[in-house]
Amino acid sequence: MSGQWTIDPAERAALHARSLADPDGFWLEQARRLDWITPPRTAGDWSFAEEDFHVRWFADGTLNVAANCLDRHLATRADQTAILWEPDDPAHAPRRLSYAELHAETCRFANVLKGLGAGKGDRITIYMPMIPEAAVALLACARIGAIHSVVFGGFSADALAGRMADCGSTLLITADEGRRGGKRVPLKTCADEAAQIYDGLKTILVVRATGAEVPMQPGRDVWYDEAVAGVAAECPAEPMAAEDPLFILYTSGSTGKPKGVLHSSAGYLLWAALTHQVVFDHRPPETYWCAADIGWVTGHSYIVYGPLANGATTLMFEGVPNWPTPSRIWEVVDRHQVSILYTAPTALRALMKEGDGPVRATSRASLRLLGSVGEPINPEAWRWYHDVVGEGRCPILDTWWQTETGGHMITPLPGMPLKPGSATLPFFGVEPRLLDGEGRTLTGEAEGNLVIARSWPGQMRGVWGDETRFFETYFRTFPGVYTTGDGARRDADGYYWITGRVDDVINVSGHRMGTAEVESALVLHESVAEAAVVGFPHDVKGQGIYAYVTLNAGVEASDALRRGLRDWVRHEIGPIATPDAIQFAPGLPKTRSGKIMRRILRKIAEGETGGLGDVSTLADPAVVEDLVANRVG
Ligand code: PRX
Repeated sequence: MSGQWTIDPAERAALHARSLADPDGFWLEQARRLDWITPPRTAGDWSFAEEDFHVRWFADGTLNVAANCLDRHLATRADQTAILWEPDDPAHAPRRLSYAELHAETCRFANVLKGLGAGKGDRITIYMPMIPEAAVALLACARIGAIHSVVFGGFSADALAGRMADCGSTLLITADEGRRGGKRVPLKTCADEAAQIYDGLKTILVVRATGAEVPMQPGRDVWYDEAVAGVAAECPAEPMAAEDPLFILYTSGSTGKPKGVLHSSAGYLLWAALTHQVVFDHRPPETYWCAADIGWVTGHSYIVYGPLANGATTLMFEGVPNWPTPSRIWEVVDRHQVSILYTAPTALRALMKEGDGPVRATSRASLRLLGSVGEPINPEAWRWYHDVVGEGRCPILDTWWQTETGGHMITPLPGMPLKPGSATLPFFGVEPRLLDGEGRTLTGEAEGNLVIARSWPGQMRGVWGDETRFFETYFRTFPGVYTTGDGARRDADGYYWITGRVDDVINVSGHRMGTAEVESALVLHESVAEAAVVGFPHDVKGQGIYAYVTLNAGVEASDALRRGLRDWVRHEIGPIATPDAIQFAPGLPKTRSGKIMRRILRKIAEGETGGLGDVSTLADPAVVEDLVANRVG
């Protein structure tokens, strides 16, 4: 160790260079971080070429992910808190599960799953609030070799049903209700509604979280607390091949249907563990807090798998950062003496609006490092995080990555010189490139499409149920490299600045939303003939959702209909997809071949009506004048 941080900038550069020059040596060495049943003798085995496309890591190794997160810590840290749970309501008591307790709970849960007939390779959907049992459910699946598919608790019954149907889950794990910001989330009710839509569901396992009365359907619904009574706290961990799938996580893309991103067991776990250790310079038993939801990849990698593989005390927060007061997040930091905080720019921007008072009212002396994830962090929010929250003492780790990448890809390490708004440099093993629109590699200072030129262990392995979609989505446009869908700029120091998505995906409050998904929901409404959705800059959410809607003939535009359409989208997808603005448009700008010109719609939504560019290829240029005149601002 040199100085305050474990890896200094010169060591970082040397390690990165070695990871590219000798990938086999580097990765086989790193693989020793994991506890293998059969240690691997091979590292990466991959090709991004169409004729020989495959991605495998450590393929001859075997291990169990849950055993890596639990069993191997029992000898050294059985009594250390593994999960520290902070409830939504600060008046309620926090819960602590030691590694020994988490191990026992996971074994019991795993035995219940087995009792319900679940086993290796089965897909189990998890639709849970942020309570420790959610993490236990993930680990229990991993223990028996079942593939979990977590659906964010804010998604609608329709979205839940669609995801269960896509991966053929017959078992759903949920809770009676969740709590968030003083409100109740009716999870079991949504699950029941989803079961009406998707008839492949055979069993709903219900964890009692709030104690609310919920209807239970005999023969289908099972209370977890009843099923677990008397069940053994020992359950052997299923030996899994390195490449066996660990989980599916649905994420939005450019097309209407979300895709089931599939992750491996060993490569994924190694990536989550290594990045968590190195980027956060983590030192157990200090308290580490990733304030995401388990429903997103950030929760998978940095609340559950990475931290637990590293023997961390990981804080799990049921609530929201600004309830009951705008000091809540900082009060939680003080209450649990949090050393590392990892959150999203959207939360920071919302809290920033409340002024410095609610922050200064707390100590935050325990904080050592501050992380950011999910969207570009604007320099103003970065400075506030650094100067006010961290009082100039804590490095800001702006981590760029994606559901598909499993973990951090471009990120600072503590101790490096930082620039507000830049995710800085690639992590070990990551080889970013910038390409122009024709696929030519740009060198030096440049801006272009961000691609990754080689495989890394945490890379996704496929799209569930669709053999060609993985290749087609990520490797078709620019042959031989992984296309991220993001744009980036590289400065004179080689630092990367992520500029945002270059495809039809928008990033709302750090959550990915496909414009096509929102459009599909809108056109299902009986009054809607056509819809086009684009993103626009939003001062708290980063991007907001702007929908242009053409109504069916004879339907009258009104504010009531606008509200109706917003509710409709909430019901179809979930609150995160609610349009911020709906503009009724008699026509949409189309080329003569009928293609909607989104570039123009984006400009209008952004308020840049002066420079609409060339509209001469439009079938009916008059449409644009109407759109500009009736812009919703
Ligand atoms: O556009 C990038 C943005 O979020 C996208 C990935 O979203 P998702 O798969 O939901 O994963 C979110 C958690 C990693 C990326 O394509 N993004 C994520 N982190 C950053 C970011 N944009 C800029 N800076 C970041 N640090």
